[in-house]
Amino acid sequence: METVFINIKQLAGIHQPRLPLRDEALNEFPFLENAYLRVVDGYIRQFGVMDDYQPITGEIVLDCTNRFILPAWCDSHTHLVFAGSRENEFIDKLKGKTYAQIAANGGGILNSAALLNETSEEALFEMALVRLKELIALGTGAIEIKSGYGLSIEGELKMLRVIQQLKAVSPIPIKATCLAAHSFPKEYTYNHDAYVELIVQELIPEVSRQKLADYIDVFCEIGFFNLQQMETICLAASAYGLKSKLHVNQLNSFGGLQKAIALEALSVDHLEKMTDQDCLDLVNSTTIGTLLPTAAYFLRMPYQPARKLIDSGAAIALASDFNPGSSPSGNMNMVVSMACIQMRMLPNEAFNAATINGAFAMELQEEVGSIAIGKRANFICTKPMPSLHYFPYAFGSNLIDAVYINGKKF
Ligand code: NIG
Ligand code: FE
Repeated sequence: METVFINIKQLAGIHQPRLPLRDEALNEFPFLENAYLRVVDGYIRQFGVMDDYQPITGEIVLDCTNRFILPAWCDSHTHLVFAGSRENEFIDKLKGKTYAQIAANGGGILNSAALLNETSEEALFEMALVRLKELIALGTGAIEIKSGYGLSIEGELKMLRVIQQLKAVSPIPIKATCLAAHSFPKEYTYNHDAYVELIVQELIPEVSRQKLADYIDVFCEIGFFNLQQMETICLAASAYGLKSKLHVNQLNSFGGLQKAIALEALSVDHLEKMTDQDCLDLVNSTTIGTLLPTAAYFLRMPYQPARKLIDSGAAIALASDFNPGSSPSGNMNMVVSMACIQMRMLPNEAFNAATINGAFAMELQEEVGSIAIGKRANFICTKPMPSLHYFPYAFGSNLIDAVYINGKKF
């Protein structure tokens, strides 16, 4: 099936970098003015300026006068599979409790884990599918999903099977990450190392045998997993070919970032708490720093130091962190706006960080993340707007006219 989009005011994000964008290149979001884009069998076949457009008999023609087309968002960090919301804790937070206090009192992740273990695989799948569809309608064209609310062999395998089922029906690419090391289950309160042993000796080999995960993750934080435990888990996973994407420097800076880089992590995620040395070490690495502004917003934490990281040359991505505890929204349009408004990212930097660099953070850069020949036709077509930069500026407006996934209107 052939479809051609014509009279596009700007066709943006037309590049195919070999490495994650950083430095000045992060601020270049190349576009063609008054363009056409041809899609064949779900993939981008051809694009150019309207002066060079030649119609093909029988193809579907869609007119995009006054509209912009840009690559769909690549959300490289989510916890999309969960059993229920936590607005009760939201109220506690409004009354003054911190994320760490709620967790220390047995709430937070443990609360979600208890609920998840009571919920059937089918019900989890149905809930997650509804969320996935909502996110695609909001412009997400590739996504990473973590486990981490099972906190037992069976619970974690159940979550990873749900993600596998989502992969089977999803029109967008999904990467699965095993985050068994998200919190210590209650029964291991006084023997943390035994839970680490369980993950290393039993869970990782089984996850690998059943091919249920693409990556390993650890919540490296005071009160959660320490540096040594993160290293033990990542090295064990690496022996099975699983690279790491790690939660570090969310609440405290105590060497998580440096350890993650030494473990050759694909990405270090969160980064609310960054010292000058942390920033420098990230800049001098090939690891991608994934910034999650909606998590900082929701927990009323300082935003990630995007400007400092970008200006000193770090490769950064933007993601939603969609989860019931710290970011109950997976709306990447909001993430992009917030990155500009609160973190002073320039619109082009935010677009790149939320598309091609997000694709790199999931190793999907050959498939999605930009408008390039041979890539999946996953893109956003906007409503009429004065300029592309209007998109993050007019925060909260729904500026998406249609989302195309594999060339089809979603
Ligand atoms: O990325 N910080 C650790 N994990 C999640 C929150 C999970 C939860 O509170 O349910 C995050 O913010
Ligand atoms: Fe997270």
